[in-house]
Amino acid sequence: MSALQDQFHRPLRDLRISVTDRCNFRCRYCMPAEVFGPDYAFLPSDKILNFDEIERLVKIFVSLDVKKVRITGGEPLLRRDLPELIERIHRIDGVEDIALTTNGTLLKKYAHALSQAGLTRVSVSLDSLHEERFFEMNGHRGKVLTVLEGIEKAAEANLQVKINMVVQRGKNEQDIVTMAKFFKEKQHILRFIEYMDVGNSNGWRLDEVVSKKEIIDQIHQILPLQPVAPNYKGEVATRYQYEDNEGEIGVISSVTDSFCSTCSRARISAEGKLYTCLFATDGTDLRELIRSGEDDAAIKKCISNVWENRNDRYSDERNEQTMTKRKNAKIEMSHIGG
Ligand code: GTP
Ligand code: 5AD
Ligand code: SF4
Ligand code: SF4
Repeated sequence: MSALQDQFHRPLRDLRISVTDRCNFRCRYCMPAEVFGPDYAFLPSDKILNFDEIERLVKIFVSLDVKKVRITGGEPLLRRDLPELIERIHRIDGVEDIALTTNGTLLKKYAHALSQAGLTRVSVSLDSLHEERFFEMNGHRGKVLTVLEGIEKAAEANLQVKINMVVQRGKNEQDIVTMAKFFKEKQHILRFIEYMDVGNSNGWRLDEVVSKKEIIDQIHQILPLQPVAPNYKGEVATRYQYEDNEGEIGVISSVTDSFCSTCSRARISAEGKLYTCLFATDGTDLRELIRSGEDDAAIKKCISNVWENRNDRYSDERNEQTMTKRKNAKIEMSHIGG
């Protein structure tokens, strides 16, 4: 029986696996086009974990008590045959929940196959319903309608849908209430994400962060809200319910109200590195262990050691240091997964 705990007694519960570092969007806060341009060196396919390797790692993580698996990217639906990977993970005894984080552009095509394969939930990113502002935020790549059609198809395929909206001052804070109204009507949970200083490329500035308090105040004036308890310990979003009982929203406040003390997430990048924080600077190369012929016990031991030594609490530290940003090079979000 494993009761793996890190240095702050946090258990390992969630595994987030990035299946590609590529994306068909160039959101300014994640993969700005001037950094991720035509010459950017994305990972070659032989450096990316194959499905056998991912399946093997998931089994090992499940033996360490992981119950939730989330597939991320880049844009995970760019990975060929993704439903096959979902099906393989679904068949693993002990996996209770499989979710996917996507920009939604390819959901119309894949929602049905994903659901058939055993996917239960999707989080779809959408930052605005306003065509021009959305276009501006995603680096002139995608249309609102395409994402909305993807969301519709996902709901039709019985996937539980959540919408993620990153709020950035000067870009889309005027869309907060419109988005809330729209998705209340559609009966999908909308989650607002404070703009974070992930990676090194987005030129993050504190004055571009719209705080949880501001977001809630704006919505509450038009659509009254009341706080509700988390669904489970360590839930990333703070939940609020509409006072008319018709729906809920969430706010992910990594900047103004961090939640490291309950963080139980491990992340594997597309190239097979294990990271224990979204803001990590270094990872542990699991691909190398697999490809050099190590057995499951050795890989399990390595993962346990990493988790037991874990002391990450980047967002808490940022708050303690009055919001200054870490100086050394962090891993890009498109690389580590969201
Ligand atoms: P649920 O299982 O639905 O509660 O999912 P989740 O909150 O893990 O979902 P999702 O992957 O959609 O997370 C939404 C966003 O929250 C991510 O894209 C990140 O921007 C942010 N986020 C998730 N986990 C962490 C974390 O551990 N630390 C920080 N700072 N941000 C996180
Ligand atoms: N700040 C907040 N959220 C971000 N995401 C990507 N970059 C950032 C950032 N700098 C979110 C996306 C998506 C998920 C993959 O992560 O909007 O919902
Ligand atoms: Fe792509 Fe998502 Fe990053 Fe936007 S936030 S560039 S959709 S991975
Ligand atoms: Fe977890 Fe790191 Fe996010 Fe804190 S900043 S909640 S430790 S991933």
